[in-house]
Amino acid sequence: MRIILIGPPGAGKGTQAESIKAKYPIAHISTGDMLRENVRSGTELGKKARAFMDAGKLVSDDLIIDMMRARLRADDARAGFLLDGFPRTIAQAEALDGLLKEMSIELDAVILLEVSDDTVVQRLASRRVCSSCGAIYNAIAHPPKIEGVCDICCSKVIQRDDDKESVIRNRLAVYHEQTSPLIEYYDKKGMLHRIDANVAKDFVLKYLETLNAAGNV
Ligand code: AP5
Repeated sequence: MRIILIGPPGAGKGTQAESIKAKYPIAHISTGDMLRENVRSGTELGKKARAFMDAGKLVSDDLIIDMMRARLRADDARAGFLLDGFPRTIAQAEALDGLLKEMSIELDAVILLEVSDDTVVQRLASRRVCSSCGAIYNAIAHPPKIEGVCDICCSKVIQRDDDKESVIRNRLAVYHEQTSPLIEYYDKKGMLHRIDANVAKDFVLKYLETLNAAGNV
C-alpha cells in the first residue's frame, strides 16, 4: 500500500496516520516529524529548516526532496508507505514521480482530507503533542489523562511552536497558495479520493478499508 495523505494543517493527517499504521504494516513518513527531529538534534538541515517552520513557511523543495530520496529507500518503506506532509508543492510531486519511477514502484491513492479554515484554527490552537513520542492530543476534545503528561510514554505534553494563531493563519495561506494545486494534479491522474475530515476520526480508516477491500489500494 502506497498512499499520500494531503490536506491543510490540522486536517488530521497525523491523527489518521496513527490509526492507519496501527492497522496496516506500512511506514508512516511525515516530513514535519522528520524536520522537527532534525531541529531537536541540531543537524545542518534542522538549522536551515527552523526559521521557515517557525514562520509557517515551507522549507525549500531541494532540502525536502533530498531528505525524501533517502527516506523512501529505507528498509521499512519496502512493504509500503503513508506519506504525510509530502509532497506539498507541484515541484515536490514531480520529484516524487521521478523517484518512484527510478524505484519501479507506483502510488495507489492520494487521500485528500477536506476541512474548513475555521475548524483548522480551532483544532490547532487546542492541539497538544508529546515532546518525546509525538502522540497527538487535543486540549478540549482529547486531552491526556493527566494534564501535561503523555498517556503513552509519560513525557511532557507541549504546544507546537507553529500552533500560535498568527502562524496558523500563515500556514493556511501557504497551503491554499502552494499545496492546493496538488488536488488538480492528482485528480487528473485519477488517484484522488476526497474525504470530509470535519467528521469523526474513525471515518477515514473505514473509507480506506473499503478501498482496500475493493482492491483499490
Ligand atoms: P507538518 O508537521 O506536516 O504540519 P501540517 O501539515 O501543517 O500538519 P499538522 O501536523 O499541523 O496537522 P495534521 O493534519 O497532522 O493534524 P493533526 O492530526 O495533528 O509541517 C510543519 C512544518 O514543516 C511546515 O509548516 C513546513 O515549514 C515544514 N514542512 C513539512 N513538510 C514539508 C514539505 N513537504 N515541504 C516544505 N516544508 C515542509 O490534528 C490536529 C488537531 O486536530 C489535533 O489536536 C487532533 O487531536 C485534532 N483532530 C484531528 N482529527 C480530528 C477529527 N476528525 N475531529 C476532531 N479533532 C480532530
